[in-house]
Amino acid sequence: MIIDGFNRVHNYLRISLTDNCNLRCFYCMPEEDYEFTPPTGLMQPDEIESIAKIFIAQGVNKIRLTGGEPLVRKDVANIIMRLSKLPVQLTITTNGTRLHEFADLLENAGIHSLNISLDTLNKEKFSLMTKRDQFERVYGNIQLMILRGFHVKINMVVIKNLNHDEIIDFVRWTRNEPVHVRFIEFMPFTGNRWESHKVFTWQQILEMISSEFDILPLEKEKHETAKKYIIPGHRGTFSVISTMSAPFCSDCNRMRLTANGKMKNCLFSQSETDLLTPFRNKEDIIPLIYQSILDKKKALGGQFTTDLENIHTENIINRSMITIGG
Ligand code: 5AD
Ligand code: SF4
Repeated sequence: MIIDGFNRVHNYLRISLTDNCNLRCFYCMPEEDYEFTPPTGLMQPDEIESIAKIFIAQGVNKIRLTGGEPLVRKDVANIIMRLSKLPVQLTITTNGTRLHEFADLLENAGIHSLNISLDTLNKEKFSLMTKRDQFERVYGNIQLMILRGFHVKINMVVIKNLNHDEIIDFVRWTRNEPVHVRFIEFMPFTGNRWESHKVFTWQQILEMISSEFDILPLEKEKHETAKKYIIPGHRGTFSVISTMSAPFCSDCNRMRLTANGKMKNCLFSQSETDLLTPFRNKEDIIPLIYQSILDKKKALGGQFTTDLENIHTENIINRSMITIGG
């Protein structure tokens, strides 16, 4: 078992398959021109499978595929089929633009639950936020996946004065549809123009929703990052991911692997450990994995606290979100 200095057992691996994406969400992509990693710099399907097996042998039982956008990678079907044969729960986070092409594959791979990013229900605002005119495609694909019986979670990054006024609309959506909306507090990453006053906090989100609906908190599941709520009579649920105002680091079980094979022990970790180069050199990467986890900080990568006013993004050393994968 992979255990860190704070007794946290790490059994969940998030693998980014690519830092490429067909959308351009400003809170995820760095401001300056960004060069995607060329295919040769990425972990190859057989390497992903072998490295995943090494993690599984150390106790990992859940793998989530992320990006950029994982479904834009040309050999993604090969990767998914390889991983689907391993003894892990396999899930994926996607922007939804390609789901119509992949529904069968995901079903065949035994993937039942999908996290789909959607920050607005307004077509124009979608184009503004993602710089691509794909709202109808994504919304249609969400409907399609619900119809096909997938458990669909929607990731909605709340940004004050940009889309916080849509929170109620998203909650209304859960009335007749079995969608599970997750409101995510806006987080700082390299080049994403984060400012404290753009964060709409968990408290503010709850206040807004309670003014319209009777809400009931659900029991927190272990390692769950989202605080879940139900509204009696609604088919779906909503939850809040309060990374900024009330982080859930104390029972964190997550490790991350970037598309170019670097291990990150935290979303906000300053350092990373190259696993791909030593793996290609036929070295044993298990000690590297354990060392990385021993170096894990208690909370938020040791880089900031919940005192939002005092977060200085220029002092945070990290990657941009598109190269981590969430
Ligand atoms: N703050 C909060 N959530 C973010 N995501 C991407 N960037 C940020 C950010 N700066 C979310 C995306 C996606 C998930 C992987 O992470 O919306 O759903
Ligand atoms: Fe692409 Fe998701 Fe980043 Fe948007 S948030 S640019 S959809 S990876």
